[in-house]
Amino acid sequence: MMDLFDTAQTRKLFPYFCSGNRGANVYFDNAATTHKPSSVISRISDFYTQENSNIHRGVYELGMSATDQYESTRKLIHEFIGSNSAKEIVLTSGATESVNLVAQTYGKKFVKKGDIILVSPIEHHANLIPWQVIAKENGAKIKEIPISKDLTINFDELDSVLSEKVKLIAINHVSNVTGMSQDIGLLVKSCKKFKIPVFVDGAQAGSHIKINVSELGCDFYCFSGHKLFGPTGTGALFIKEEFMREMPPYKTGGQMVSKVGFQDSTWTDYPLKFEAGTPNIAGIIGLGEAIKFIQNIDFQQLASYENYLSVLMTEKLAEVPFLELYGNSKKAAPIFAFNIKNIHHYDLAALLSENGVLVRSGHLCNQSLMDFLNIDGCVRASLSIYNSEEEVYNFIQALKKVVKFLSKSV
Ligand code: ALA
Repeated sequence: MMDLFDTAQTRKLFPYFCSGNRGANVYFDNAATTHKPSSVISRISDFYTQENSNIHRGVYELGMSATDQYESTRKLIHEFIGSNSAKEIVLTSGATESVNLVAQTYGKKFVKKGDIILVSPIEHHANLIPWQVIAKENGAKIKEIPISKDLTINFDELDSVLSEKVKLIAINHVSNVTGMSQDIGLLVKSCKKFKIPVFVDGAQAGSHIKINVSELGCDFYCFSGHKLFGPTGTGALFIKEEFMREMPPYKTGGQMVSKVGFQDSTWTDYPLKFEAGTPNIAGIIGLGEAIKFIQNIDFQQLASYENYLSVLMTEKLAEVPFLELYGNSKKAAPIFAFNIKNIHHYDLAALLSENGVLVRSGHLCNQSLMDFLNIDGCVRASLSIYNSEEEVYNFIQALKKVVKFLSKSV
C-alpha cells in the first residue's frame, strides 16, 4: 500500500514529476486528466515493443497472449467496481463513448415516442447531449431531475417526476465542477417503484472514492481510464446483464459478429457484441495496469488525505477577498470551482499559469450547471493523490498575487 501522506514518495511513481520534467508546476487540473504512473507508461511501451499483436484472432502465441492481457483488464475492472461478472463490462474509449453507446442502443430500443429521459441539470455535456439526441430521434422528452440549491438531488421533489413514462435516469456520481457526490443508492431505491433504470457517469469518481456497482444498485456505470491514472482513449461501461442481453449492438464490423452473410448477419455474445473493430489494445492493457495501481491504494487513507487537502484548500480560499466557491458542502473529490468578483475566470487561469499553476477555466463542459449557478464560467482547481500541502500554499500565494494584479487593472 502507498503512504499517501508521503507525497514525495508518491510523486516518484509518476515520471511527469521527476526532475527535469514539467512537474515543477503546480498541476491542479486532475479533473481534466491525471498523470500516469511509470508502471502504466512502461506497460504500454512494452506491449508495442515486444508483444504487439491483434486480439481475438491470431492462433499464434503472441496473439493469444495479447487477447489474455486485454481480457484480464476486463476482469480487473469487474473486480474493481464489484459487478457480478466480467461479462457485464464493455471496454470503450471513455465515458463519452459509453454514454453514446447506451443512448444509441438501450435508448434506440426502449425509449419510445412520448417517453421521458430524466437527466440532472448539472451534467457534463457528455451525459446530456447523447440523451438529447436519442430523445429527438425517438420523439421522447428530456426532463430535469430536481436539484436542490446545494447541488444534490432534491429527494423531496423526486417522486413528482417519476412515472412509468420515464425510461431512464442519467446522473453523475461525482461532479466534474464541484467534486460533490450524489446519493446513487437512494436514487436507485426511489426508482424501484417504476423500474426505472439508472445510468451513472462515474468519470470523476474512481480516483477518489471506492466504486461498487452492486452496492449502488445502478444499471449502467461508466468511467474513463485517463482520469484514473490510465491512458487516454480507454474506458469501461458496466451494463447489468439483463440489459446486455436485450440491447442491440452499437458499432458494427469485425469482432462483434457470429455469422455474416451477404444480406444479413448475426451478432456474437455480449460484451464483445459491443466492441466492433480493433480496439485500443495497448491502451486497455495500460488501463489494467492503472487499475492495479489504484488497487494498491487504501481508499480510507485516500479519503482522509484528500479530506485533509480539501479542508486546507477551503480555509485558504476563504482568505481570498471576493471569492465565491461553488458547491462547498461535503466533497467526495478535492475539486474546487470558484469566481472572484469583477475578475474574468479566463484572466485568472491564464495568469495563474504564468505563475506556474495549472488550472482549468470556462464552462468546464457543463453549461447547464453554469446556467443553474447563473454564471458564464469559473476557475476550477482539482487535486489528486500526488498533490501536496506545499502546492496548496503555492497555489494560494499565486492566486493572491494574480488577484492583486488584476484588481489594480480593473
Ligand atoms: N471532462 C473533463 C473536465 O471536466 C475534460 O475537465
